Amino acid sequence: MTGPSVGCDVVAVARMRRLVADRPGARERVFTPAELADAVRGDVDPDSDVAIERLAARFAAKEAARKALRGRGPALLAVEVRTDHDGAPELWVDGRRTALACSLSHDAGVAMAVVVATPEVVADLTT
Ligand SMILES: CC(C)(COP(=O)(O)OP(=O)(O)OC[C@H]1O[C@@H](n2cnc3c(N)ncnc32)[C@H](O)[C@@H]1OP(=O)(O)O)[C@@H](O)C(=O)NCCC(=O)NCCS
Repeated sequence: MTGPSVGCDVVAVARMRRLVADRPGARERVFTPAELADAVRGDVDPDSDVAIERLAARFAAKEAARKALRGRGPALLAVEVRTDHDGAPELWVDGRRTALACSLSHDAGVAMAVVVATPEVVADLTT
């Protein structure tokens, strides 16, 4: 492979709401403390549509990262979405910031993520 690789994923917000409603502790098993804090930034209620949309987008980012890394990357839960000071997403793995590029969006009951990996990043994260 010579060029960058890309992964995308969509998650229905209703599916994320069912996951957190039906399985106690699911939030903590699927998301890191930083991701949970991000979802409620701006003093948003943890069960509000906005918070659940943000979680759905972060779940989509973990799956999109896996696709960009050709399914050979770190486990889903080792990939963490953090938010920079401008509100843009960053992807961290095992406490280390990666050069994976990520973009999130959520609207109309759907959350999505796109992740782009250069060959160097793919090599770094899959060896
Ligand atoms: C940033 C912006 C484009 C988001 O678009 P939107 O249609 O409101 O919302 P979307 O659902 O498509 O995207 C939301 C995601 O955008 C991302 N985002 C937010 N700010 C961002 C930025 N500066 N750069 C890149 N991505 C950003 C986040 O990942 C966010 O998801 P999250 O809330 O779950 O963390 C929009 O808020 C905007 O243009 N704001 C005006 C300028 C602004 O405030 N810029 C940011 C600070 S300088």
